[in-house]
Amino acid sequence: MSKTLDASGVGGSETPNLDFDGTTPYEDYVQADVLTHLQHLRSDDPGEMVFLVTTQVMELWFTVIVHEWETAAKALREDRIQVAMDALKRSLRELEALNASWRPLAQLTPGQFNAYRAALGEGSGFQSAMYRRMEFLLGEKSASMLVPHRGAPRVHAELEKALHEPSLYDEVLRLLARRGLPVPEAVLNRDLSQRYEPSPEVEAVWTGLYAAPDDNETVDLHRLGEVLTDVAELVWRWRNDHLVATRRAMGAKTGTGGSAGVTWLEKRATKNVFPELWTARSYV
Ligand code: HEM
Repeated sequence: MSKTLDASGVGGSETPNLDFDGTTPYEDYVQADVLTHLQHLRSDDPGEMVFLVTTQVMELWFTVIVHEWETAAKALREDRIQVAMDALKRSLRELEALNASWRPLAQLTPGQFNAYRAALGEGSGFQSAMYRRMEFLLGEKSASMLVPHRGAPRVHAELEKALHEPSLYDEVLRLLARRGLPVPEAVLNRDLSQRYEPSPEVEAVWTGLYAAPDDNETVDLHRLGEVLTDVAELVWRWRNDHLVATRRAMGAKTGTGGSAGVTWLEKRATKNVFPELWTARSYV
């Protein structure tokens, strides 16, 4: 049973309900109490809180973006291009919000980061399973990325499933083939658990689509190409913002995850997402 009270405690129909039998309906839906008690700090440094929460916030954005890209991949499989476009466009705004969440960490000094770095132990974003699912959906597959998750059966099973499923880009290329464009069989039947390797024939397909952006037959595919390019650019920006924040916070030290640190991240950041969408531009 719930009552309605105004600010003076007198009943009124235009003020929020204050009285609930159990937890509030807001709590039942949002689980804010769970979410706001997941900040188990490991040091006394007051700067650790924003580091942990920024990381958690990014994990939530990864989760939303994976949801959008899985929605888009499924819709493409079913030739529902508008549904895929809607999901991809939502993901652009979400990627912008994800990237904006670097702000509180973008100017960390080595001294500030050192104040809680040791408390992280061997913990590293490299071990983020949801980030890995994003990379898998983009075509950056690698079975070795499952190894760190052997001790977490659910996470491992989800990642293994994602490893063997077509990526978002695989679904795009299959759609292009169904629409009569000459995507090679070797690309369509590739081993899905391997990293996507660029193909000159796929580059030629995109070149053709970009050369005739207003062609009635393929205008939707050209638009799809542009949204995917926007996705690729925003992912690249996330990687670069991460790289610069890391360079500011720890210079050339090795990472908590055991990599060479900045030089390793530099190599990761140069990988082109949806490679032929970039290289085709030279030939249009
Ligand atoms: C300024 C603070 C940060 C520093 C200094 C930093 C440093 C590093 C380093 C050195 C690596 C390479 C792996 C290793 O040896 O650890 C790495 C990887 C990674 N970090 Fe961070 N990181 C920071 C913040 C974050 C945040 C907030 C996230 C959000 C989840 C994050 C997510 C990742 C991911 C996903 C990778 C793996 C990238 C890939 O596989 O290409 N990092 N980080």
